[in-house]
Formats: sequence, structure tokens, C-alpha cells
Amino acid sequence: MSANKAELPVLRIALLGAGVVGSEVARLLKDNEEDFAARVGAKFELVGVAVRDAKKDRAGIPANLITTDAEKLLDDNIDVVIELMGGIEPAKYLILRALKNGSSIVTANKALLAKYGAEIFAAAEANDADVYYEAAVAGAIPLLRPLRESLVGDKVRRILGIVNGTTNFILTKMDEEGSDYTEVLKEAQALGYAETDPTADVEGHDAAAKAAILASLAFHTRVTIDDVYCEGISKVTAADIKAAKDMGFVVKLLAVAELSDDEKGVVVRVHPAMVPKSHPLASVRLSFNAVFVEADAAGQVMFYGRGAGGAPTASAVLGDLVAVSRNKVSGRRGPGESVYAELAPLPISAAKTRYSINLKVADQPGVLATIANTFAKHDVSIQVVRQDGHGDAAFLLVRTHLATDKALSQTLAELKSLSAVSEVVGVMRVEGSAN
Ligand SMILES: NC(=O)c1ccc[n+]([C@@H]2O[C@H](COP(=O)([O-])OP(=O)(O)OC[C@H]3O[C@@H](n4cnc5c(N)ncnc54)[C@H](OP(=O)(O)O)[C@@H]3O)[C@@H](O)[C@H]2O)c1
Repeated sequence: MSANKAELPVLRIALLGAGVVGSEVARLLKDNEEDFAARVGAKFELVGVAVRDAKKDRAGIPANLITTDAEKLLDDNIDVVIELMGGIEPAKYLILRALKNGSSIVTANKALLAKYGAEIFAAAEANDADVYYEAAVAGAIPLLRPLRESLVGDKVRRILGIVNGTTNFILTKMDEEGSDYTEVLKEAQALGYAETDPTADVEGHDAAAKAAILASLAFHTRVTIDDVYCEGISKVTAADIKAAKDMGFVVKLLAVAELSDDEKGVVVRVHPAMVPKSHPLASVRLSFNAVFVEADAAGQVMFYGRGAGGAPTASAVLGDLVAVSRNKVSGRRGPGESVYAELAPLPISAAKTRYSINLKVADQPGVLATIANTFAKHDVSIQVVRQDGHGDAAFLLVRTHLATDKALSQTLAELKSLSAVSEVVGVMRVEGSAN
């Protein structure tokens, strides 16, 4: 930090990446220069912007700031590094280097934090620096700071969220237009809501990284992406969505993190789930995100807004920039990683939820009783059964009360071996249902 003519100290800022988010951060930094100075009590000086290709046109960013030498930029007495390159390397190496230099970090890199958060937070601690990452989960929605600060006096039991806009866009279109997954994916790609390679979104990996970050913060424990059970939406069919709809449910890709009953473990999972139409998450449409937090004293709290996009994500990045800069100005650090609870990450078999099972059944007497007995044998209690069709096209739709994933898997294995069941057509978890 150095003082300038106007008596305000100057904070030297380095930006790594000037893509979708980075370019918006650079623009807003310039547009709101004076407000930032007044809010922080220091002037921001953007010292350099590291990119891969120096020849690309970067509207709004002075050409003399562009560099392909990120290391040299980091070593130039930087107060705050904003990392918006994404991916694991070189982002990890550069962040660790910047921390070693004593710079604080603002990042939106969920993939990196969900895998190597421990190493990065330890380096921040060792170098008395901040690492802020509000933009890494749910874009513009203030969520991590409320979890870290506003709800820190409470006990969070459960988090249920729609944290990936691409999959929510696809599922909304499938629900509202009756379209097929492949058809809607193509539309999402044409509109820029899905990448050319959509794997990270549609297979749930992006949501799993966010779930790990949310669970770590909410439960004061370390959860990495490797601890998260992950199932995407690529196998969800138009028929699954219609069956859910007929029963008053909407299919959503949910990130769920739950404290176990004995409070010694946490199950974190990402998968498609049926949500009752009356639940607030059911009305979260298209690319919007929403996260529902259940805490002992607060009860249920919901956060809603834009989960991605250049400007919305830049809003969260700049909020963090102001926060770490205020810390710099006052010579403090924000709260570091809180992992004292050391909960065990539990496997999916320990998860407890409700299920909806669609069975194609044989047209013979006693079928219902045989099937009901199989559920009972594994301690899975049935809430509703509905029969559709008859003869060769007879289906039973069974919805259960709470059961463990393990009990359900055992039930399904036995159902598949019964002559009464010709096929287990579909199985989907049911979340947000009160009974
Ligand atoms: N996009 C969103 O809506 C969104 C939302 C929330 C969080 N995020 C997170 O924000 C971060 C940035 O995302 P984005 O969408 O802005 O990415 P992006 O559009 O792909 O931009 C990445 C930027 O980083 C630069 N870069 C990549 N590798 C580099 C390297 N090895 N050396 C130097 N520069 C390099 C690229 O340079 P070139 O321009 O020369 O290629 C580009 O400017 C990611 O961690 C992402 O997960 C994004």
C-alpha cells in the first residue's frame, strides 16, 4: 500500500483473467472508481491483467495493462490478486505464489477450492492474507458471507440448493415444454447457457464443487469434491418429468448437504430430485439459482438470484475486493477457514430421503401385495401407491417415506428379481416434501 496525492492510500490490484467475468470486473472497477475509493478508504490501482492471448481485443482494458507473464505481475508488490482464470493449474500455483508474497486473494474458482481449499487456506493463514470467494458459489447471490458471518451463531442442519443455472435451464424447459433432454441441451448451447462441452454442468461436477464449498462453510468441517456423491441430469427423460408433473412435482438438480442424526457426519450429494410444486425451490426457473438453508434457531432461510454471468458474478467479486481491501486498510484479516468440527464425510448409502419408484409390473393377481412386502422387508415404508394402465402396460408408482439409500438399494435389488416386476422403469429421490 502506498499514499497518493489525494492522501488516500493506494491498493495495487492484479487481475488474472479477462474472460466473461474478468472483463466485467475490469469495466466495473473503472466505472465505479470513485465510489470504491470512498467505500474502502483507499484508491484501487489496476496494475496489470494477465491473459493467455495478448492479441485478443479487450475493449475497455488499456493495452499497456495486458500481460501474458502472470508471475511477473504477481511479484510487482501487489496488495490484492483477483483470480478469474479458472481451472486448477496454473491458477493454484499462481494463488500460492501470490499468498507467499503477502497478497490477499479474491477468486471465483470453485473447482480449485473444492479440491485444494485446505492447501490454499493454510497458505493464507501462514502469510497472514485473506482468501475470499463469494463468487465461487451461486454467482451474484450473497450466500457464503451470510453462512460464514450471519449464521455463524446458529447450527445449520441442512442445505438444499439449485446451484447450476445450465441444468436448471434445461430442466425448466423440459418441464414447461415437454421437450427431450437432447433437444433442450442444443437450445441451451445455442443461447450460450451451456458450453460446447457441457459435461461439467450436466453431469453435476460444477454443482458438486459448490456443494463441497457450501458444506465446509455451513458445518465448519472440510468437505472436498471427492466426498460429494454426484449424479447429473443427462439420464433424466421427458417421461420422468411428466410422471413427476402428474404427481404435483418438479424435477430439479439439487445440491444437498446434511448433518447426520448423531451430528458426527455429513452427507453431501448432487442429483436430480422431485420437489413438490408448493416448495419455494420449485418456482426457481431457467438459469436462476436458489439455496435453502435450515438452521436450528433461524429456521428456513432462502437465497435467490442470478447464479452466473459476467456482471452478476463480477458483483460478488467486487464485494469481496472491497471487503479484503478494507481489511488491508485497517491492518486486519477476515475470518480464516473454520474446520474445527471435523465431521466424517459419509457415503451416499447413509443419506436419508424419500423416493419415487416407477415399476412396470406383471398383470397377475397378488402383485401389489408381493411388492408391498418387499418394501416392508427392507424397512422402507410406502406413502402412496398409484396404478397406471393394465395388461402388458401396467405400472405402479410408489412413493416412500424417509428411508436410507442403502435400504432403498436393497429393496430395488430384490424388486428386480421378482417375477411380478418386469422392469424398474425409474427411481428418483424426493426432496422438500414434508411427509
Ligand atoms: N462465467 C460465469 O458465469 C462464472 C460464474 C461463477 C464463477 N465463475 C468462475 O470464474 C472464473 C472465470 O470464469 P470465466 O467464465 O470468466 O472464464 P473465461 O471466460 O474462460 O476466462 C478465463 C480468462 O483467463 C485467462 N486464462 C486462462 N488460462 C490462462 C493462463 N494459463 N494464463 C493466463 N491467462 C489465462 C483467459 O485468457 P484469454 O482471454 O487470453 O483466453 C481468459 O481471459 C472460473 O473459475 C469460473 O468457474 C464463472
